[in-house]
Amino acid sequence: MSQIPAVDAASGKASPRHIAIIMDGNGRWAESRGKARIMGHKQGVEAVRETVRCATRLGVEALTLFAFSSENWRRPEEEVNFLMELFLLVLGREVKKLHKNNIKLRVIGDCSAFSARLKKKIDEAQALTADNTGLVLNVAANYGGRWDIVQATRQLVEQAVQGELQSSDITEDFFAKQLCLAELPAVDLMIRTGGDHRISNFLLWQLAYAELYFTDTLWPDFGEQAFSEAVAAFLSRERRFGCTGAQVRAWMNESK
Ligand code: FPP
Repeated sequence: MSQIPAVDAASGKASPRHIAIIMDGNGRWAESRGKARIMGHKQGVEAVRETVRCATRLGVEALTLFAFSSENWRRPEEEVNFLMELFLLVLGREVKKLHKNNIKLRVIGDCSAFSARLKKKIDEAQALTADNTGLVLNVAANYGGRWDIVQATRQLVEQAVQGELQSSDITEDFFAKQLCLAELPAVDLMIRTGGDHRISNFLLWQLAYAELYFTDTLWPDFGEQAFSEAVAAFLSRERRFGCTGAQVRAWMNESK
């Protein structure tokens, strides 16, 4: 073990069970190097890989990544097309590795807007990894927090129309069960890279009690050190436990 306890509910010193990340700053990362914005997205995939590795090592139960928001369709057509191709490529290339590492992949969001090719890849990836028992990796694609609340409401209205539901049945817990990620632990830590201090229509309901951590680090530069610092900040805030990034790194190294 290490100086930093993992999950210890009795003492109240608990590592985050569910981390959600707004991966921002890909475009600026590329532009600052005189490259096309899409190169930032490409490099961002490396940061995704590294973050999945760190989350697995830390024993996080769920990692939710905001890959494409419902508002991202407003970007230039060639950037949107590139992102779609990148998702296809990444799904095709990485899913076997995820499966080998016992990771369960889930895509949350309105997939109806995606091409048939991408939908098929998503279905195949989810089916392959469905029974895995390790980290649950949620990729939010064409996702919006308001969309999530609206789709939950629609499900409840449909049940009410069928006569299966009374308004008095609708409690917070009941409502939350219709939302994406309902079966997972609540989000403990939400990280946003890229310097902005906004939630940008990410998990609006699910972030109600999450610790929010904002860093200027651009997503393609987000690696083990930045991940450790975010977790250390969470531990120090949440548990009044003054860890440093170095301690968390040492702890993660021990469990490699
Ligand atoms: C935000 O940076 C990033 C995105 C909209 C795309 C994120 C996608 C990836 C990291 C690639 C694949 C991921 C998975 C999980 C398959 P930005 O373009 O808004 O950057 P900027 O704020 O500097 O313009």
